[in-house]
Amino acid sequence: MSVVAVIGAQWGDEGKGKIVDLLAQRAKAVVRFSGGDNAGHTIVNPQGEFRLHLVPSGIFYPETVCIIGNGVVVNPAVLLAETDDLNKHNVDTNHLFISDRANLIMPYHIVLDGLEEKRRGKGALGTTGKGIGPAFADKTARLGIRACDLLNREQFRSRLSTILELKNAILTKIYDAPPLSEEEIFLQYCAYGEKLAPFITDTSTMLRQMLSRKQPVLLEGAQGALLDPDWGTYPYVTSSSPLAANAALGCGISLKDIDHIVGVFKAYTTRVGGGPMPTELKDKTGDFIRERAHEYGATTGRPRRCGWFDAVAGKFSAQLNGFTDIALTRLDVLDVLDTIKICTAYQLDGQIIKHFPSDVSILEKCQPVYEELTGWKSATNDIRHLKQLPTQARRYISRLEELLSCPISLISVGAERERAIMARQIG
Ligand code: GDP
Ligand code: IMO
Ligand code: MG
Repeated sequence: MSVVAVIGAQWGDEGKGKIVDLLAQRAKAVVRFSGGDNAGHTIVNPQGEFRLHLVPSGIFYPETVCIIGNGVVVNPAVLLAETDDLNKHNVDTNHLFISDRANLIMPYHIVLDGLEEKRRGKGALGTTGKGIGPAFADKTARLGIRACDLLNREQFRSRLSTILELKNAILTKIYDAPPLSEEEIFLQYCAYGEKLAPFITDTSTMLRQMLSRKQPVLLEGAQGALLDPDWGTYPYVTSSSPLAANAALGCGISLKDIDHIVGVFKAYTTRVGGGPMPTELKDKTGDFIRERAHEYGATTGRPRRCGWFDAVAGKFSAQLNGFTDIALTRLDVLDVLDTIKICTAYQLDGQIIKHFPSDVSILEKCQPVYEELTGWKSATNDIRHLKQLPTQARRYISRLEELLSCPISLISVGAERERAIMARQIG
């Protein structure tokens, strides 16, 4: 293994946590490079079942350096609660490091996330409410507070004072909401700073040193390509880029350092929150998949919208990201279905189109054109070799490979780490 980026290829929740936990066996470092605690990565391994929001999914390997990169927005309270919880379950977190350049989620980001959603009314985006949008907006507007500021109290106080003056004006004058106390936030974040200080460092230099020693590194994506602010279903998107192109930027290495890009696809489609999803099944089959697969959000517990595999969106994602391999997850969920459909094109105003429209009002009008495959109707979760998969399951996999023009190198057939079929070596 060299440097491998693991990227969400759909609308998030594809099973990135499961894949990273599995591939991390061979990695010396695992790095989160985007998003924040809007992510919820589920891991089921011999140490238990965990839902990670900020901590990289390599944390279960004590020898593996885990890094929260500069591209992540960090809520220190969430991070500390997460490490405490891991420690309680005997998972050591002393090999976790936080980039000194990472922006922090501040209390006003969370308040504003809620108020902005409320103001949108019917057009609400369905954010996770974790303050992600306001935090990334402040980063770009140069109004962010970064992890390194926690190590310099004077600088922190002065930045907080200027920024909070503006935030309180917005809270009180625009939203008629109560102002926040500078003193309270200052003291609270100084306390977080004291606890986190030993782990805040220049993680990019750490990584580059590892790369110069040719040590294998995994870059762990959050969210999914179709939630990208530029390329996703704007404005129903998140606020940082989940794409492979952002992986180097979000951890401070060069694009040239990345050797393999693994796209994680679910064997069907899910989406949580607002925005168009052409293959959504608002019928018994959709409900059946949700219940069988327990499709409820790992961060917010919201029911996920379920539908057939959308190969139009999938091909768009594969091309944007430049996947070298695909990891297909949750194949086992389809084990009991008589027929399985794949969306191979959209019908729009009587025309067949094969591209993913940029305008959500157009995407909303797109009707999926389906190809139907016969189901395999047998359990796959104990299978570990490609050849042992039922013929119809292999046919489904080959058809997806064809439609996405990319090899499916790993097939996941259960939530547990060992429930996987390695069709080809990755990295
Ligand atoms: P992530 O955000 O991409 O890491 O994905 P989530 O953890 O939010 O959601 C994926 C869900 O699928 C979790 O509940 C995983 O435990 C589960 N999961 C992952 N791979 C498989 C699989 O192959 N089969 C089944 N049945 N569940 C899986
Ligand atoms: P992981 O890493 C699924 C969605 C939210 C909402 C939109 C904007 O677990 O795959 P935000 O809070 O980011 O401003 O919300 O993005 N969203 C996710 N959906 N998985 C995620 O992460 C998500 N992170 C954000 O539901 O529609
Ligand atoms: Mg998730």
